[in-house]
Amino acid sequence: MSKRIDVKDLDIYYGDFHAVKNVSMTIEPRSVTAFIGPSGCGKSTVLRTLNRMHEVIPGAYVKGEVAIDGTNLYGRGVDPVDVRRQVGMVFQRPNPFPTMTIKENVLAGVRLNSKRISSKAADELTEKALRGANLWNEVKDRLDKPGSGLSGGQQQRLCIARAIAIQPEVILMDEPCSALDPISTLAIEDLINELKDRYTVVIVTHNMQQAARVSDKTGFFNLEATGKPGELVEYDSTQNIFNNPGQQATEDYISGRFG
Ligand SMILES: Nc1ncnc2c1ncn2[C@@H]1O[C@H](COP(=O)(O)OP(=O)(O)OP(=O)(O)O)[C@@H](O)[C@H]1O
Ligand SMILES: [Mg+2]
Repeated sequence: MSKRIDVKDLDIYYGDFHAVKNVSMTIEPRSVTAFIGPSGCGKSTVLRTLNRMHEVIPGAYVKGEVAIDGTNLYGRGVDPVDVRRQVGMVFQRPNPFPTMTIKENVLAGVRLNSKRISSKAADELTEKALRGANLWNEVKDRLDKPGSGLSGGQQQRLCIARAIAIQPEVILMDEPCSALDPISTLAIEDLINELKDRYTVVIVTHNMQQAARVSDKTGFFNLEATGKPGELVEYDSTQNIFNNPGQQATEDYISGRFG
């Protein structure tokens, strides 16, 4: 299920604004890759180009290539809806649909893809996704209660269950723990560690310890000055980025000298 992502010469624009320049990187399957860097350097922007969510913003476009197992997502005839089925996304704030039950939330993405499934299959999928998100034991007796009745950390795991219910190959997470307490954060980190057995995971985080704990590889993004495009300064094993970075800017950032 897990897939390799090859980003090649990617430039990202919001209308006239050149937000990120010249990113090339290979993200290995069954691994966790962390994007770090100061606010505004383009981490979320790059992440959204990996499932064509970027172009949902009016005037936004990219140049270059993002290939998943060799197929360019931006190639002719590729349907962005299919892309988002393969590449799921979890956002910074847990965003369960408030009027839906826990179970309906898990199945929301599946139903959106207009797949009709039997009620037995729906039950099975709900359990599987909730187990996969480490949430099953906490909610199995209240699947028909509103998703909004869960704690923040549980809601975020519910959103992860919703993302994995569509059986993607890649899961993107944009600061998934920034609205969570430390215990819920550790629960999500454990989960990310398990998810990489099956999925390719890319996570944006401002938490250096988190990047060091959960990721195999780390990309450090930075920008020269306000108004200039962000760029990928260094991309290497997390070990090297944190212990032996190749660039002064990386070292300054991880040691807390700026950002
Ligand atoms: N919808 C948008 N329209 C226009 N410009 C945008 C939009 N979203 C982001 N930008 C700009 O693109 C640049 C990169 O933003 P992005 O949100 O990717 O940064 P980031 O690294 O994720 O920052 P943070 O750590 O604060 O989340 C910024 O200059 C930002 O103002
Ligand atoms: Mg961001």
